[in-house]
Amino acid sequence: MESRKQLDSLFKPDSIAVIGASNTPGKIGHSVVKNLIESKFQGKIYPINPKEDEIQGIKAYPTVADVPGSIDTAVVTVPAKFVLGVTEECGKKGIQSLIIITSGFSEVGNRELEQQIVDMANSYHMRILGPNIVGVLSNSNKMNASFAPFLPLSGKASLVSQSGALLIAMDASTYTRRIGFEKLISIGNMSDVSIGDTVEWLSEDPETTCISLYIEGIKDGRQFMDVSRKATKPIIALKSGVSAHGAAAAASHTGSLAGAAAVYGAAFQQAGVVQASDLDNLFDRALALSLQPALKGDNLLIITNGGGVGVLATDAAERFGIPLKFAPKEVQDELKKHMPDFGSAKNPVDITGMAGTEWYVESFRYALSHPWTDGVVVLYCETAVSNPLEIAQGIKQAMDESGITDKPVCISYVGGERSEEAMRWLVENGIPAYGAPDVAINAMAALREYAEMRSMMAEDGSTDVKVDREKALKIIADARADGRDSLTEIEAKQVFAAYNLPVTTTLLSKTEDEAVKLAKEVGFPVVMKIVSPDILHKSDAGGVKVNIKDEAGVRDAYQTILKNAKAYKAEANIHGIAIQEMAPWGTEVILGSVNDGTFGPTMMFGLGGIFVEVLKDVTFRVAPVTKGQAERMLGEIRGAPILAGVRGEAPRDKKAMAEVVTLYSKMIVDLASEISETDANPVLVYEEGKGVKVVDARVILKKK
Ligand code: COA
Repeated sequence: MESRKQLDSLFKPDSIAVIGASNTPGKIGHSVVKNLIESKFQGKIYPINPKEDEIQGIKAYPTVADVPGSIDTAVVTVPAKFVLGVTEECGKKGIQSLIIITSGFSEVGNRELEQQIVDMANSYHMRILGPNIVGVLSNSNKMNASFAPFLPLSGKASLVSQSGALLIAMDASTYTRRIGFEKLISIGNMSDVSIGDTVEWLSEDPETTCISLYIEGIKDGRQFMDVSRKATKPIIALKSGVSAHGAAAAASHTGSLAGAAAVYGAAFQQAGVVQASDLDNLFDRALALSLQPALKGDNLLIITNGGGVGVLATDAAERFGIPLKFAPKEVQDELKKHMPDFGSAKNPVDITGMAGTEWYVESFRYALSHPWTDGVVVLYCETAVSNPLEIAQGIKQAMDESGITDKPVCISYVGGERSEEAMRWLVENGIPAYGAPDVAINAMAALREYAEMRSMMAEDGSTDVKVDREKALKIIADARADGRDSLTEIEAKQVFAAYNLPVTTTLLSKTEDEAVKLAKEVGFPVVMKIVSPDILHKSDAGGVKVNIKDEAGVRDAYQTILKNAKAYKAEANIHGIAIQEMAPWGTEVILGSVNDGTFGPTMMFGLGGIFVEVLKDVTFRVAPVTKGQAERMLGEIRGAPILAGVRGEAPRDKKAMAEVVTLYSKMIVDLASEISETDANPVLVYEEGKGVKVVDARVILKKK
């Protein structure tokens, strides 16, 4: 496809022009040419400079138009004010893409110039990486088209970074950490080529086995999710800047809880993207994901020669969500043959400090090949009676001889220089090795998370449900015609009902007599609430009365509510008083939605009342939410046991609740062009088989 070919020109070009190439050391245009030469780039290099005939020994040209033959891509290192002109020249030359290193565009508010450059490039079907980037580095192409000092240590993961400085720092640290990368791609302002575009390209790059991302903010969240879902290799993301997002003023409860960490976390999970918690974690996890297959089950066996590291690994397994189990008796019996009497064949399998290469290799060989085992972690403490490198080589040999390629192996060596050397050897030979047991377990957890998310995605199924969108839109249109940008509770419930959400019967009375009549229709006891677009917090205004048992109560409540509302806000426009079915008590939960700036309609589920107020025990998903995801939402809040039934209480109707989540998510996607935020709070969940009731509803419309 055309766009892939254009991105080929960015990431594996045969010819590169450097516009702004320079003979003056210290200039970026000097560095880029020097780096292309030093990285031994095999393609053609065309330095472009108006004054020089030769740059660093290579023939230079005044403009790209003067270059004989075609050019795949151009690295732009001229000041911002010249970039538009250069873009046009490149377009005319038929160059397919630009790597614009130059700063001074949207990152400093100069959006207009950036847009002009993108428009110019588009008019010539040219793609732009950047601007405001370090460049592109690729080991397999021997291409350092950047001003980062050198190609990274070679590895199998590729990194896409929104921060140029971080990319440079990571480049150098690949050597000190001994964790290599295949490509480093700086993506900067993402004026054209997005993170999603690079993920899509890298997912078909045979040199890349894991895509790592450093993300500050994605522009098109849905595109990112789509391409990530389709990727056939692991993606790992480190998202920074998770604290500020939620600070934006929000009109709903949900809005105030929908911080970047929560929404990005949900999107990553739904798109099968593994997360990293910090830079070290990104390196460590990317190493495992790039070298090893996913952990497709929970039967992880740990083999160790030290009790201490074994306990640390056990703690880490619990922390990172891997349930450690004992292997079946036959496995334990066999493992006992490779340890002294005082060893332990439980999990961790402790082959003791006496262990040498043979015990390690034979217990590993058996454990790996047994059908019970899904993956193996080998821990080693450097002892005088063992040879770290020999053990490493023995493990590798056993892996090769087993022919098993679908079970992951991670290793941790704790020791000195001999252990370091052995770990380097392991990584060079495709086995992730780490200096601490918890890190090896965390890497294994990444392989497990990847497998889990992918299998969830496979089983999730459809979200098709029958709904009445037209009716919902009509209610919204009527409210807008009335000059409002929020719905009353009654209207909100009508919208919810159009999406088959089980709302409590709520009718509007305009007079005291009508209130009595409607209360009889609904059936006592009833709840009465003020209906006014000017009073959103009804309880605060004394606008809610519950458990009204008879006609006298209705008349009394009608007068009191009206009086309170007027006292609260004299000029409030009062539509009337709602007469509402009084739902029996159930477990209170909250549902809600926001229209997230990055991912669009996103929904929240959590325990209601004090749990949401104080503990913020909520979870998010980008809508639509499938049944499988809805069920997981119910299970992943801290208060999940309350829904499961605690202290003798019957389990709640989770099936009905999951269905409501699915319907709700369908509603917010369908009405995304109209709705900005919603809350259903409280929603009452009854015992199994008895369903769910939405007791209160709030819909805030998009400002138009
Ligand atoms: N075509 C070709 N070459 C041109 C040109 C044109 N239209 N216009 C100018 N040049 C040449 C200059 O003559 C100069 O070469 P020289 O050294 O032989 O004189 C070279 O291009 C560079 O121009 P100069 O004016 O010296 O700019 P500079 O090197 O000081 O700065 C940038 C240019 C792009 C590096 C700078 O503007 C910039 O954006 N720096 C920030 C880069 C960055 O940090 N990126 C993001 C990292 S996260």
